Amino acid sequence: MKKDIIITIFGSTGDLTARKLLPAISKLYQSKSISQNILVIALGRRPYDTNSYLNAMQSLTKEPLNLDVLSKIVHYYPIQITSYEEYKNLSEFISGYKTTYTKELYYLAIGPDILAEVASHISKSGLIQQNNLNQVLVFEKPFGHDLDSARAINRMLWKYFDESQIYRIDHYLGKEMIQNLMTVRFANRIFEESWDNQSIESVKIVVKEKEGILNRAGYYDKSGALKDMVQSHLLQILSLIAMDIPKAYESQFITDEKVKVLNALTFDEKSVIMGQYEGYLNEPNIPGDSKTETFVYLKAFVNTKRFKGVPFEIMTGKKMDKKESYIEITYLPTKEQEKWKLPVLQNKLVIRIQPNDGVGLTINSKKPGLKNNLELVELNYQLPKSVEGNIPEAYEKLFLDVINGSKTLFTRWDEIESSWKFIDLVKEKSQELTIYKNETEIINYIMKKKAL
Ligand code: BG6
Repeated sequence: MKKDIIITIFGSTGDLTARKLLPAISKLYQSKSISQNILVIALGRRPYDTNSYLNAMQSLTKEPLNLDVLSKIVHYYPIQITSYEEYKNLSEFISGYKTTYTKELYYLAIGPDILAEVASHISKSGLIQQNNLNQVLVFEKPFGHDLDSARAINRMLWKYFDESQIYRIDHYLGKEMIQNLMTVRFANRIFEESWDNQSIESVKIVVKEKEGILNRAGYYDKSGALKDMVQSHLLQILSLIAMDIPKAYESQFITDEKVKVLNALTFDEKSVIMGQYEGYLNEPNIPGDSKTETFVYLKAFVNTKRFKGVPFEIMTGKKMDKKESYIEITYLPTKEQEKWKLPVLQNKLVIRIQPNDGVGLTINSKKPGLKNNLELVELNYQLPKSVEGNIPEAYEKLFLDVINGSKTLFTRWDEIESSWKFIDLVKEKSQELTIYKNETEIINYIMKKKAL
């Protein structure tokens, strides 16, 4: 039977497919957000049939997979994806299911080492034709390990595919509260009118993780927190906060503004702190003398008219006390607070990305009673538990957008290029690595350095 949507996953036997991709696809299917006439082709080397494949996937994740749905829509297809000869049969297999209207997604859940080879096979075998917008390539970081390697990957991709066919995933952009950032900013006069260096004193972007590197030693040790987290997720968040108002609410205009921010980024060289959690060197497959950082703190500046002079403090690390990500925007005191010598308690807008997704705002208020004292009180919005449990996973939203051809939540090449320029500079300037036992220790270290 012909299909409306065909999703072909390269490298489908890995963690990402089990934990993120299959759950997202089955949820979209079950909620009828996508056509029920869908086929998911899972490609891998191992000699599974569809049943044993799905069981193997279930064993990779603690969360129960929706096997009822998945067994209806998934087909496991054994193939050596680096062998060009095998693409002819694959192409015939897919042709049996498609019409000219079928939306075809080719999802590359594979390492950077075979990316070029697989991309070339996909193109040469005609799976994706450069002028067919129904055929798209989806993949995620690492987009290289520095500016030069990222450029090389991109040159290769542009040789085979049109930019409009390429979807580069940054899964943070699919998170509910990151999507909400623009709404909070642009749909509230109180924020929109004061979103600049005349009103904002500082911005913090914090992404903390409780876990260590889990079983990703091979990838992580070559990457480290700066490239793994800052180059992608944290700079994406920063650019959404700092961008100027896009000409229209359309992906190209939004991206244009984000790129301007990334190109205007500088940082305080003395502020950079790289840390490695104690015990990292004992993780399986980590070389005993590794200098890879699992924690980064730095103070960046966006040299635009809007945000010149405002520090953007960025912090991310593994093995922290708990998993928590948030954005904290601190406002300057009012002129009256200074003139009338009122206690300087500053407004803060906090956007909680996870957990307790929501928005908090502290305001000054009179402390009830006979005296005229001030106190900071918090106005708090938190997604209700009933909604929280049903928030679509980032990958659900991202799949849906690829299927619908919406690019706002995907990164364009020039964003990647500009962020690598910045990251390469930071990497070059930061040699020191401090070992931390826990969150308190590394935070105290930052405080001590700030005080110097
Ligand atoms: C990934 C990084 O992009 O994001 C991981 O490679 C990190 O190292 C993960 O753990 C964090 O994502 P989330 O959605 O769990 O905050």
